[in-house]
Formats: sequence, structure tokens, C-alpha cells
Amino acid sequence: MKSYSIALIPGDGIGRDVTAAAWTVLEMAARHSGFAVTGTEFPWSCRFFKETGRMMPEDGIETLRGFDAILLGAVGWPAEVPDSVSLHGLLLPIRKAFVQYANIRPHRLLPGVRGPLRTESFDILCIRENTEGEYSGAGGRVHQGTLDEVAVETSIFTRAGVERILRFGFEQARARRGRLASVTKSNAQKHSMVFWDEITHKLAADYPDVAVTSYHVDALAARMIMAPESLDVVVASNLFGDILTDIGAAIQGGLGYAASANINPDRSAPSMFEPVHGSAPDIAHLGIANPIAAIWSGAMMLDHLGEKDAAGRVTKALEATTARGIRTIAGKDSTDAVTAAVVAALN
Ligand code: IPM
Ligand code: MN
Repeated sequence: MKSYSIALIPGDGIGRDVTAAAWTVLEMAARHSGFAVTGTEFPWSCRFFKETGRMMPEDGIETLRGFDAILLGAVGWPAEVPDSVSLHGLLLPIRKAFVQYANIRPHRLLPGVRGPLRTESFDILCIRENTEGEYSGAGGRVHQGTLDEVAVETSIFTRAGVERILRFGFEQARARRGRLASVTKSNAQKHSMVFWDEITHKLAADYPDVAVTSYHVDALAARMIMAPESLDVVVASNLFGDILTDIGAAIQGGLGYAASANINPDRSAPSMFEPVHGSAPDIAHLGIANPIAAIWSGAMMLDHLGEKDAAGRVTKALEATTARGIRTIAGKDSTDAVTAAVVAALN
């Protein structure tokens, strides 16, 4: 029987609760579709940091490289480890080392889920550049602690980096409804963002079947709330994509529904799948975290692995579950109850 080896990094807080839930669903979905998934769990987290002084071992990246995919829960426990340390010790290095340059986040309402907007008919796929841009980590501080202190954080946009994410966006638009929104702030940022717009314009010639529009990020943020049904695929830089996808999460009913995939499109290294919500320390291990985003991320993993049947099965089971009104919101149903409902709907 075909089998996939999956690295499980539950991480911190509710990351542990929802990864367990997602894994239950994925194992069952694989069984239904006639293949197997084998999970190897790594305890890398803020707790691991407290014990070892590192978020993951020195050879962590090399250890992960051998897996078919990575399923991650959440990273961060700010009461004990500053986020700037924990994220730069685990999540962000994996995205960069494995060239997971496309961060894909689907924003649509699952059946029965109410969002804050009047309209319910939107289906947006946000594609966020995931390895460079504003989150490159280039910069420094001088004269630290004095009145003359200076902090510099430089965005890095490379032609190769911008071209590949835009091409990815065009390809996704081509496979969906044929519309691409390319997001910049080129009226204010006259170097990097004009560069991005130029490359968008140049690549458009290769995709005559895609209708591409350039938007400024502020206008696009408003559009996601005022007219989300007018959007199909949205492609944006690391920072802009980060912010826009929290808007996306909000309009789809909250972070508990926001799934994501960190994709290495060349498949030269494993891709990583994670819910967008983070570790939510206030509700950790209470059994009330919403597992839907993690399960949906798992479906994206199956899809990436080429297991379309199983991916579709999980997505349909999620939809059947939310359509029945089963949800964790306001403590209505537990994490386990939602997970059990999804498992039951897999058949
Ligand atoms: C996300 C998160 C991360 C990011 C943080 C935790 C570094 O906000 O995945 O959206 O900005 O990439
Ligand atoms: Mn974010």
C-alpha cells in the first residue's frame, strides 16, 4: 500500500490540540482512499526551547528534509519565549530553508458558517510571498539603548523571487476563475513595489487568458470587505499578504476557519501545512479549540501529495459538519465533538 511519511510538529498551545484532531481525520481519510500516512512527531516548541535553548535541534532542517510533508500546529508561547525568538527559531526558518515560497490561504465561508459581512458569496485564494520581501530579516540596530538609536529593517525583493510568486499566482488564476489581483503600494514605495508592478505587467503577456489588475494594498483591504465577491486570486508580498489573510480569516468566520499551505512548488523539499490561528494560550488544552482550520490544512496537504480523492473527501466532510451546525464557537461543541463529526462524515 502506498504510504506517505509526515512530520508532525504540534508546537505550542492549541497547536497541539488541533494537530491531534487533524491527524485523526487524515489517517481515517487515507484509509478510506486506500493509502496510508505515517506520522513522526517532533516536540519542537517553546517548551523544547526552555529545556534545550533551541526551538529545534541544530540538524532539525535536515531531519525534516526526508519527509513527504510537514503538518504544523502553532508556534509561540510569549509568556515564556519572545515571539521574535520562537518564530525565528522554527516556523520562519522552515519556510525559508525549504523554499516554501508560496503561502496559499483559501477564504470562503463553509456551509452554515456566518461571517460578519452582508454577502456570503465569495471565494478568494490569497497567495502570499513567503520567503523574502518585508520579512527577509535584513537589518539591525545601532547605538542600542541610547537616544541616538537607529533601527533598520530592509525589505528585499529579488527578480527571481517576485517572478516566481507572480507566475504561481497567474497559474492559480488560470486554474480557477481567471482573475488575478496583484497587490502593491507602488504609489508610496517607489522602488520595490514599482518593480513588482513592472514584473506583473511583463508576465501578463504570458497569460493572455488571465485578467490581471494591480491594486494598492489599502484599496484591496477595503475591497475584501466591501466587495469580496469581485476577487478571485490575490497575490501579495509577505507583509501585505500576512495582513490581508487575517482580513480573509475574519470574513470567513474567524481564524478558526483559516487554513494555509506553505508550498515549495518545485518539490525540491517538503511543503508545510498549518492553520493560520496561532497558539491561542488563553484556550490551550481546554478542549474547545476549533480544529477546522487544521483539518482543512490537512486536506490541502493531501491535495499537494496528489491524493485528490482523499483531499476532496476531507473537504466534503468539513462542509457536511459545518452545515449541520456543529462548531466550537462560544463553547457550543468541543474540539473532539467536531473532530468526531468530521470523521463520521468521511464515509
Ligand atoms: C502567519 C503568522 C506568522 C507570519 C507569524 C507568526 C510570524 O502571522 O503565518 O500569518 O507572519 O508569517
Ligand atoms: Mn499572520
